[in-house]
Amino acid sequence: MQTAAGKLMKVFLTRRIPPEGMKILSAAGVCEVSQWDSDEPVQRADLLKGVQGAHGLLCLLSDKIDAEVLDAAGPNLKVISTLSVGYDHLAIDEIKKRGIRVGYTPDVLTDATAELTVALLLATARRLPEGVEEVKNGGWSSWKPLWLCGYGLSGSTVGVIGLGRIGMAIARRVMPFGVKRLLYSGRTAKDYAAEVNGEYVPLDTLVSESDFIVVSCSLTPETQGMCDKAFFSKMKNTGVFVNSSRGTVVNQEDLYEALSSGQIASAGLDVTTPEPLPTNHPLLTLKNCVVLPHIGSATYSTRGIMGALSAQNLLGGLQGTDMPSELTF
Ligand code: NDP
Ligand code: DGY
Repeated sequence: MQTAAGKLMKVFLTRRIPPEGMKILSAAGVCEVSQWDSDEPVQRADLLKGVQGAHGLLCLLSDKIDAEVLDAAGPNLKVISTLSVGYDHLAIDEIKKRGIRVGYTPDVLTDATAELTVALLLATARRLPEGVEEVKNGGWSSWKPLWLCGYGLSGSTVGVIGLGRIGMAIARRVMPFGVKRLLYSGRTAKDYAAEVNGEYVPLDTLVSESDFIVVSCSLTPETQGMCDKAFFSKMKNTGVFVNSSRGTVVNQEDLYEALSSGQIASAGLDVTTPEPLPTNHPLLTLKNCVVLPHIGSATYSTRGIMGALSAQNLLGGLQGTDMPSELTF
């Protein structure tokens, strides 16, 4: 696709992306691609420079796309395509004001993320990392009746905060473990919750009645800091807390207190604040806290499909045609 001056449109990619995406961009032959050619995040100054004059921007969840970036890009910018379903890193109001279209990657990562969340829940509740460590460090002296006991899903109550695409996929996966009640909370009740016998309840009820709490909502001003001291103080002492949404939904100081004081049993986090979590962070000193490096969608095939979808979204936005997954706002 050419500009009025007969030049190819310019796009800036803030990172190396899966080859499936690069192939689509090259084959289309409609844009001149410049890229932060690294697996590590682009520095802010390089982002501001790279985006100058771009018609399209392909970014990641670690890139904060705010008014400063949009101003640096200038008036050419028609489309932002993020390689993620979460879009809390995009200043949506500013983007909307400028008439820029946004592409994202819903659905294609739902199964992978739900699978990882259930794996994290089981690993946390059944203390898998502790067990693996004991095998390696010689702590395994014998089979002992009460050693490394945890909590099982059978007969339990599971609470899902945010029964959206991923929350529902998590619910579908935990029910066959013999879960007795599936509670959920959010802004509205969902008809589709009937499939998992989901009971729509106020957040406080979910927190106090659940044995396992899974956070799978989007990060918004309302959900930011939602899991705080008051939240953890309402949980059961045997409660297991799992978060695979965004780190800032949780107040980590309050979570540390809840875990170290025995207010709750354990926590599994796929997302933290900041990312990466510093290796000297207090949460990492706790045996009852399992922290993963934001790998919810990390299967080869899912990342390939995300790469392809983000490239197609970018092309749709550049060419003024349909985008396979356009964010409507
Ligand atoms: P959806 O939009 O389908 O679901 C988001 C859910 O959040 C909705 O059910 C919504 O409920 C709920 N929600 C919004 N506001 C609130 C609130 N105030 N209280 C409780 N719930 C609320 O998105 P997805 O399921 O596709 O993705 C969810 C999030 O998961 C993403 O935004 C991203 O942050 C995170 N994610 C993390 C991954 C990882 O690697 N760990 C991978 C992929 C996604 P309602 O409809 O009632 O408003
Ligand atoms: C997302 O897509 O929002 C995840 O956090 C990474 O896949």
